[in-house]
Amino acid sequence: MSRGKVIVTGGCGYIGSHTTVELINNEFEVVIFDDLSNSKEFIIDRIYQITGVKPIFEKVDLSNPIEADMVYKKHSDAHSIINFAAFKAVGESVEKPIMYYKNNLYTLINSIEAQKKYEIKNFIFSSSATVYGNPDILPITEKFQTKRAFSPYGNGKKIAEEILEDFNKAFSNFKTISLRYFNPIGAHESGLIGELPNGVPNNLLPYVTQCAAGVLKELQVFGDDYNTKDGTPIRDYIHVVDLAKAHVKALERMILDNMEDNYEVYNLGTGKGVTVMDVINTFEMVTNKKINYKITHRRKGDVQALYASSEKAKNNLDWEAQLSLKDMIETSWNWEKSYRCI
Ligand code: UFG
Repeated sequence: MSRGKVIVTGGCGYIGSHTTVELINNEFEVVIFDDLSNSKEFIIDRIYQITGVKPIFEKVDLSNPIEADMVYKKHSDAHSIINFAAFKAVGESVEKPIMYYKNNLYTLINSIEAQKKYEIKNFIFSSSATVYGNPDILPITEKFQTKRAFSPYGNGKKIAEEILEDFNKAFSNFKTISLRYFNPIGAHESGLIGELPNGVPNNLLPYVTQCAAGVLKELQVFGDDYNTKDGTPIRDYIHVVDLAKAHVKALERMILDNMEDNYEVYNLGTGKGVTVMDVINTFEMVTNKKINYKITHRRKGDVQALYASSEKAKNNLDWEAQLSLKDMIETSWNWEKSYRCI
């Protein structure tokens, strides 16, 4: 029996597609809203191949209020919205701030306006660890003060969280959970869905896999003069399937009316700090492939170390990351190979 309809905006994208699979596996009916600006429609067929269920698909630009209203009206029998639809290239957002604020915040505002109008009770927002800036103490808990992020992309996440907090203060019959992702990597074990970066990737792991696949020549390691064990920055890499499962847990918390407040935030990480060199060394060990890399200057805006305390998610959502760095790298590499038919 279906557990009701969930709208997944950006459901053809990297985290959206993995979350759609987990929702379907947990008997939810999924409707995907996506403008395909940074994703591919064939992902819908791949979701079908994995789950045996084809989600309903609406191609729509949610930053346009008329288009957004039309699709939300059509699917106003949904009980929940999970909002992934956003531009996500940090560097590009520095070059094109208006484009980023306009797309990401208009999409959010049009979605919560429709949520209110059509009484869609629950909302999950994909936020980011970037809202913590450069913390002095680690691991990061949700009690830490949020800071203005270096990039318009990151600052947009902070502003979005504030908009959602205000919305939920004003309208107590709605519920929102913001999930602050640390560094999602990995792919579905089937090799059928994974990250599909537009052009040259900005993030570490897709860059590494494309180097190993021979698409890119050389990885630049941005700085080895940080105060860490090998001088390279520390991040909390988390498997995208673990992350996707956390969305189902958050949804269940809202549906079961278990929330302490109608606006809650959770960190999603493993709690383990890993350096850039750890990632490269583990990749070489797992895949038996050498990565051609060179140490260069620090990247502007990068922070030394970020890793999460996920205690709150463990206690309230009954969720904990299960998969290891080795699993993340293996599945990313499988996805890269299957996508490129290597
Ligand atoms: N790195 C390299 N070379 C590369 C790419 C990355 O050395 O070619 C290094 C970076 O300097 C950093 C680490 O790898 O130390 C991770 O970089 P990513 O770009 O993969 O990830 P970030 O931590 O910079 O950014 C991620 C998400 C953002 C989010 C941010 C929050 O991509 O969406 O975490 O901290 F805002």
